[in-house]
Amino acid sequence: MSEQKPIKKAVFPVAGLGTRFLPATKAVPKEMLTVLDKPVIQYAVDEARAAGIEHFVFVTGRNKGVIEDHFDIQYELQKTLEERGKDVAIEILDGSQLKAGQASFTRQQAPLGLGHAVWCARDIVGDEPFALFLPDMVMQDEVGCMSRMVDLYSRTGGNIIATEEVAWEETHKYGVVEMGNDVEGGFEVTGMVEKPAPGTAPSNLFINGRYILQPEIFDILENQASGAGGEIQLTDAMITLAKQQDFYGFTFTGRTFDCGSKEGFIMANIAFALWHKDMAEHIRPEIERMMREIKPIG
Ligand code: G1P
Repeated sequence: MSEQKPIKKAVFPVAGLGTRFLPATKAVPKEMLTVLDKPVIQYAVDEARAAGIEHFVFVTGRNKGVIEDHFDIQYELQKTLEERGKDVAIEILDGSQLKAGQASFTRQQAPLGLGHAVWCARDIVGDEPFALFLPDMVMQDEVGCMSRMVDLYSRTGGNIIATEEVAWEETHKYGVVEMGNDVEGGFEVTGMVEKPAPGTAPSNLFINGRYILQPEIFDILENQASGAGGEIQLTDAMITLAKQQDFYGFTFTGRTFDCGSKEGFIMANIAFALWHKDMAEHIRPEIERMMREIKPIG
């Protein structure tokens, strides 16, 4: 049995404006755009549940109220479906609901960066290790990325960030890690840099949006100066934390889709449709036909 403090809480920063998806995101939060039939945010919440998370902390902003509604009970709909005996729909509805008391919502109030968003969750998380999900990053894997990380954590303890290979010329868009010695199922992190200038990245392993962090990160974030892009960067606070505590990288081998970009969002939709047996049969030949016939017009 492990002696690590279990990971029971997860933080979901969902305050971003989603300007890249305007006008879709004028009245609908970007986290509520759907990949197939599920809102983007529910992929992260489902991944968290599968990893044993029991409390869900959403760091929101203005106009994000519908996220709270999505995870609540929809009493009228549930009652109507029950009266009509729509069992499959009831099951889907149940799966999108968090139990009473399982969710907390707090507002970031000012767009000061990811580090600031995480810091806003400090009182709700309290003095325990927690999982952090960047919900834009939708992952496709038979076993969730966070489940695999929790498994590694049960052996290593400390802090763990998921990483993934990216083309070298893309490294300037992300946080990038420097790899030290291997540990079983991961590696020691010896350095991190947020949005390295082209040609300076220490590796092509980028931080892909899943973290297990110890609560001391909050004390560091409290005084964290702004970094890349003038924002309070989580990566900068993690660099300090890694000097004080064990810090590991986990190499994710599934697929990650950055649903904060249109390209990633489209690819996520295709990938999940192709994963769906019945749908794949119809869609695959259509996609092949479209690839042959449709040419860009602009
Ligand atoms: C954030 C993190 C970065 C990480 C990325 C993953 O950057 O700061 O380290 O690689 O998410 O999507 P952002 O996408 O907010 O610029």
